[in-house]
Amino acid sequence: MKKNISGFSKLSKNEKIDWLIENHFNNQNSFRKILMQYWNSNSELQNLHDDFIENSISNYYMPLAISPNFIINSKYYTIPMVIEESSVVAAASKAANYWSCKGGFKSEILSFEKLGHVHFIYDGSYNELSSFISIIKPVLFKETSHITNSMKKRGGGILSIDLIDKTDKIKNYYQLKVIFNTIDSMGANFINSCLEKFSEILITKSNEYQIFLKKKNKIKIIMSILSNYLPNCIVKASVKCEINLLDKENKISRKEFAEKFVQAVNIAKIDPYRAVTHNKGIMNGIDSVVLATGNDFRAVEANAHAYSSRNGKYSSLSNAWIENNEFNFELKIPLSIGTVGGLTNIHPLVKWSLKLLNNPDAKELMEITAAVGLAQNFAAIRSLITNGIQKGHMKMHLINILNQLNASSKQKEKAIKHFKNKNISHQSVNNFLNSL
Ligand code: MEV
Repeated sequence: MKKNISGFSKLSKNEKIDWLIENHFNNQNSFRKILMQYWNSNSELQNLHDDFIENSISNYYMPLAISPNFIINSKYYTIPMVIEESSVVAAASKAANYWSCKGGFKSEILSFEKLGHVHFIYDGSYNELSSFISIIKPVLFKETSHITNSMKKRGGGILSIDLIDKTDKIKNYYQLKVIFNTIDSMGANFINSCLEKFSEILITKSNEYQIFLKKKNKIKIIMSILSNYLPNCIVKASVKCEINLLDKENKISRKEFAEKFVQAVNIAKIDPYRAVTHNKGIMNGIDSVVLATGNDFRAVEANAHAYSSRNGKYSSLSNAWIENNEFNFELKIPLSIGTVGGLTNIHPLVKWSLKLLNNPDAKELMEITAAVGLAQNFAAIRSLITNGIQKGHMKMHLINILNQLNASSKQKEKAIKHFKNKNISHQSVNNFLNSL
């Protein structure tokens, strides 16, 4: 049994690695070398990365790629994407090309509200509590003005504060539901600071306002936290074109393609097993932009999947239909992402990625990201209903298999040629390398 180590975070980076190598890697220095080969020789840059999190010991690389030819709201974009899955960027680029000569993607913000709650217990009457909240509402606004002032100057701040009665679900449970506009920041710190201040005010004022709140019925704060579920922070991305202007497919007519495509989306609307995979494909595109622009992909994922279940059953985030001989495809998704705050002003590659996008504001970044999600979904469904997904996927994966098998660059060159029109599997690549 290993012993707990105390004060680990206070050790230097080298001391932490010494401890690791001794306790987890049987003193084998090759494991130290693996960590150290990823250190950046620019110590300033390395320190910056080390400071992001506690107990940092190395850097974990992910590829940063670009996908050109995206036309979104009539503007041309080259999209930065961070992702490890080999076929995602290729698929996005293919879909971007496909739609660039058909008017491109349209994207629009449908709503833009963030929210959070103070969760608390109160064992008195709802009417007492409601009068108390109405009386102290101006105090809640005033006493958080030191936090909200600069956001207000930029047109944002606290939009509303409401008491929500949840006593039918949990005895004496209420929420203060607060809606925010956090402009260009994702807003987590801003929202949580306001909510924690509100909880303090609730306690101090409940002691003062005993006319409304009988002393025995004290408010007990459980927690104050933003919600990552934001069904009123929605962006819609869409494409459409006449069926006879769709690209010619190999084995099926344009009409058949459009009809099959709509069927595929309908299946994802009614079947959660398919919907999860369908939405995962959308998130391939969304997450890669979210990561490249330094946003919180866990929050974005949680939000998207909760929204997918908003009608009581997990379903597709996208929709497709044919109307008047026109193929329509759209994605509605909640996205809480920012272009200021967090990593956006610190990580050099995040700053670079935002510059590549021409330094968009948060709403424009939402529009771009949703369009990439739709592109990804389009590319996946197009492959699924025509050639199947594995052909393109394994073509992109071939190089990973070759790397796994330690192929030389000459062998790789030969393998790429050989497998151009052949089925690719780990076994077939291995056999081919052995035959050389
Ligand atoms: C793979 O990462 C994503 C897909 O499975 C998405 C889909 O099935 O729609 C191809």
